[in-house]
Amino acid sequence: MSAPLTSRFPYAKGSDGSRRLGYGADYNPEQWSREVWADDVRLMREAGVNVVSLAIFSWARIQPTAGTWDFGWLDEVMDLLHAGGIGVDLATATASPPPWLTAAHPEILPVTASGQTLWPGARQHWRPTSPVFREHALTLVRKIASRYADHPALVAWHVNNELGCHNVYDYSDDAARAFRSWLRRRYTTLDALNNAWGTAFWSQHYSDWEQLLPPRLAASHPNPTQQLDFKRFSSNALKDHLLAEREILRELTPHTPITTNFMVMPGTKGMDYTNWADEVDFVANDHYVTPGPQDRDELSFSANLTSGIAGHRPWFLMEHSTSAVNWQPVNPPKKPGELARDALLHVAHGADAVCFFQWRQSAAGAEKYHSAMVPHAGADSELFRSVTELGRTLDALAPIAGSEREGARVAILFDWDSWWASEQDSHPTSRLDYHREALDWYSALHRLGHRADVVPAHHSDLSAYDVVIAPVLHVVPPPLAKELTRYVEGGGHLVTTYFSAIVDENDHVWLGGYPGALRDILGIRIEEFGPLLDGDTVDLDNGTTGSLWTDRITVTGTDVEVLAGYRTGTYASRPAVTRRGTCRGSATYVSTRLGVDGLSVLLPQLLAPAGVVSELPHDAHGSVEHAVRRDAEHRYLFLINRSDEQVALPGLTGDVLVGPRPEGDGLVLAPRQAAVLRQSRQSAP
Ligand code: GAL
Repeated sequence: MSAPLTSRFPYAKGSDGSRRLGYGADYNPEQWSREVWADDVRLMREAGVNVVSLAIFSWARIQPTAGTWDFGWLDEVMDLLHAGGIGVDLATATASPPPWLTAAHPEILPVTASGQTLWPGARQHWRPTSPVFREHALTLVRKIASRYADHPALVAWHVNNELGCHNVYDYSDDAARAFRSWLRRRYTTLDALNNAWGTAFWSQHYSDWEQLLPPRLAASHPNPTQQLDFKRFSSNALKDHLLAEREILRELTPHTPITTNFMVMPGTKGMDYTNWADEVDFVANDHYVTPGPQDRDELSFSANLTSGIAGHRPWFLMEHSTSAVNWQPVNPPKKPGELARDALLHVAHGADAVCFFQWRQSAAGAEKYHSAMVPHAGADSELFRSVTELGRTLDALAPIAGSEREGARVAILFDWDSWWASEQDSHPTSRLDYHREALDWYSALHRLGHRADVVPAHHSDLSAYDVVIAPVLHVVPPPLAKELTRYVEGGGHLVTTYFSAIVDENDHVWLGGYPGALRDILGIRIEEFGPLLDGDTVDLDNGTTGSLWTDRITVTGTDVEVLAGYRTGTYASRPAVTRRGTCRGSATYVSTRLGVDGLSVLLPQLLAPAGVVSELPHDAHGSVEHAVRRDAEHRYLFLINRSDEQVALPGLTGDVLVGPRPEGDGLVLAPRQAAVLRQSRQSAP
């Protein structure tokens, strides 16, 4: 995105014309009668809602048959919202094709790796590469864009919805054709493809482009580079769909910003958003909490990475939940205070709009037990009161709209290629979880009271960080190897882990001893991996315990110190954690999975040489998350109590925009309470 920081962000405006944070939800009026619509707008105003996403699943209502269009109801809703002062992020409505279309053209339905058709009856049953689907979808986009181009309620376009949510991998004949074209563009010649795919193995040499297929269900492990390329291709096919819709919207409404909602979450790894972000006018993300011991770390990690993907420009939280979802095995509600606390965690990491799925809880359909802003109980409910209170809180935060996130001194690198490649089949272990390893580092930093930025491994300015952590950075092409080496030689402190720097972009092993691409800078050589069986662990001599993985490390550099060794296991008495110090920087290797507990023990040793210290009082470590946003004049300090206990934060000054009144020279945060302090940049660092 080359546009200035906030120029394309659809800010709501206050009565004095000043920017406001966005607040709202997906709005599905087609599920309700007209009388309810008027009540909706009244309640939205009461709650402080200023933006809604409309028409996301409205295709069948807008185009009830191939030849008929019905915009009357949508005109009415658009007018009603506008009269209520509510802006519309209008969807292109292409997410769920109507029954008439799939009945006439079953060839648009996706096909699984084993050849099963995904039938209509739910949603997102379309092939990203189907020319027939594309044609019908683009006709709809053109109709909607022409009709509402000049509607005063329109503030942004919402392309499709969660592209790839249910249909990222399609193995149909359309997909096969498109995959072949993509491969031709990538490799130009079959020789180049055969080399990249290593087809000398298992008699896989291709002599004609037509022989190439998606990695459909096979007798054994499909070719790993074919699998990796298919993942790249599938992400790209969805991005192509985004671009196709975007071109029509740009043509018809050049001044209206365009987005689509990403899903930066562990369960949705199919889309490499690092190369989608430049294609939208502002980044939007959806996030849902999966209950578990690290659930709020994961929320924070997702918001943080979304900011990294957005180049630290303000982004739009398009969906999260007010309380329970409906799609986990058990769906507990949020505790009191969590609704606001979770929303503010996103804001702390750069979200300038906070929206929910959805406005009014459905009475019918698969999502009737999913929470919403107006629950089944109606507006006379605790939930709606919390929603209204959050509206007031966001209003009080209007001064932060457009401010940027202040970078941390520590970065965690995140890389889709490494995520995809490290978890493929036929590996030393099938238990490796790329996202979990990265999250463990993030959790350990939080536990020690440190801020960190989660940033894409490629195209991030590493020199901005004193410490760069690259967990399981499995795929390291030559330019990245050079960049990481330069970073260390330039005085940076690099930390990497097991199964990192093992392969290049074609998933070919860097030879001569692992981790080939970073062997020299790390000053170590590994001849053999030692993955651990389920339940097996190894003790390290620093009191920590490793699981999942070990490595047989030989130290090759004279300037390498062993920070911890194995006490038990096959590699007992050999190094487990090593650090090579260069004249100013260092390169550390952690050869086993230490988990949050072990990493919390190790991290102080890794951060000390860089002089990284916590900015929080010790008692707040692990309970309070802090993040900073700033503009030309102010710093906005977010202090968010993620624990169920009260926490005292002495020694803090500033105007309280949100949160408890100061007590003496500090604040006391109630369980799950958040505070935002405004400090002048003259008096703050
Ligand atoms: C999202 C989707 C919404 C709704 C929500 C429920 O994936 O975009 O339409 O289904 O999940 O959590």
